[in-house]
Amino acid sequence: MKLCMIGTGYVGLVSGVCFSDLGNNVICVDKDQAKINSLKKGKIPIYEPGLEELVLKNYKNKRLSFSTDLKDSVRKSDIIFICVGTPSRKGGSGADLSQVFNVAKEIGKSINKFKIIITKSTVPVTTGDQIEKIIQKTNKKKKFSIVSNPEFLREGEAIRDFVYPDRVVVGTNDIKSNKILKTLYSPLISKGAQYLNTSRRAAELIKYASNAFLATKITFINEMANLCEKTNINIEDISIGMGLDKRIGGRFLRAGPAYGGSCFPKDTKAIINTADKFKTKLSVIKSVIKSNDNRSNLLLSRISKLLKNRLKNKKICFLGVTFKANTDDMRDSSSLTMIPILSKKGAKVSYYDPTGHKKEFNKYKNVSFENNIKDALKKSDLIVVHTEWNDFKSINFKSYLKGRKPIIFDMRNIYSPTKMKQQGFKYFGVGR
Ligand code: UGA
Repeated sequence: MKLCMIGTGYVGLVSGVCFSDLGNNVICVDKDQAKINSLKKGKIPIYEPGLEELVLKNYKNKRLSFSTDLKDSVRKSDIIFICVGTPSRKGGSGADLSQVFNVAKEIGKSINKFKIIITKSTVPVTTGDQIEKIIQKTNKKKKFSIVSNPEFLREGEAIRDFVYPDRVVVGTNDIKSNKILKTLYSPLISKGAQYLNTSRRAAELIKYASNAFLATKITFINEMANLCEKTNINIEDISIGMGLDKRIGGRFLRAGPAYGGSCFPKDTKAIINTADKFKTKLSVIKSVIKSNDNRSNLLLSRISKLLKNRLKNKKICFLGVTFKANTDDMRDSSSLTMIPILSKKGAKVSYYDPTGHKKEFNKYKNVSFENNIKDALKKSDLIVVHTEWNDFKSINFKSYLKGRKPIIFDMRNIYSPTKMKQQGFKYFGVGR
């Protein structure tokens, strides 16, 4: 099939490349000329394991191409995916849909024959209805169908998530579009993905409800971890014990720092905004947001306590600063809240992250990047394991620290407390 992905961010690029790998002809469109030029040279703007190889393979096979010409790309394609960003509105909680609507206007001017136009970006309920109205203005005879097909991939696992999704959700009442999309996704369905056809609005809400529920699961286990700390219980026993109940499930029950990334914080706020518009209370999600906002302060006060409330001139080393492993994404990472506060309180923070230096910390004095773990740990009074990169899982602290015994605060519970204590470290995790 002939596809066009508008927006070469995470969702657009990964889905476009994966669709081309399934044998479709895909044009990835972006208005950013520099980005398109570097993609044509095989340079990938994001860090995502396995993506570069797939881009090079499919670009070489000519199933994948890159363009800045939206009109031409739309005319050449049968199915158009809108994959542009939907960030939080400046100063507000709802999603900023200006990019989506601008693209819709452009598509409207370019329709030459029947097109299926799909929102893959996360968009609030009724956005599909609004896109339909925009495109109808320039296309009186309805030669198009607007569908919602949300994406559920995770950063760092995006290719695997695309190829082996739990489900493919297609929101449309149009029989023809549904049939075409079922065929497009048939290679994934034959590998076990569930195909679910719903109304367009339901598909839009499924995406937000799923992210809000996952955020709730994480927040729930983080609060349980707080209780475990007070009652001398290991949170991992609780996660396993709860997760073995098939109605609950064991995934997304790992306690840690506040959840972050480009989706959960933004989408939980946006669903509240939608509910407000429709005069409905979502009190559970509201308290999840509040609890998560408070989590970094809570972990900061633990840091302070571990250092006997004396932060001035204390050397604190952060291992990992991204919001999770296998991504270079810093958006809404809890390190962005914690490190500046520690620096303001006079601590000297060094950090190491496998994805390198982060410009976000440039403006803070006493915050420095070290380009290897050993240098970052040097002279530290406290080591904070912030992100669960594999690179940190088998650090030989004994040889790196040469007899020194700084405090280790493992916010991701990646080490065994028994082994760490046997080696004489003052070791602390979360919820245990
Ligand atoms: C999330 C969803 O998992 C995807 O299904 C969805 O498609 C995506 O948002 C999106 O809306 O585009 P992502 O933001 O890439 O994916 O990251 P996750 O793996 O879900 O992690 C989010 C945050 O939760 C991270 O800060 C992570 O460290 C934290 N987390 C996750 C925990 O603290 N504990 C867990 O058990 C799982």
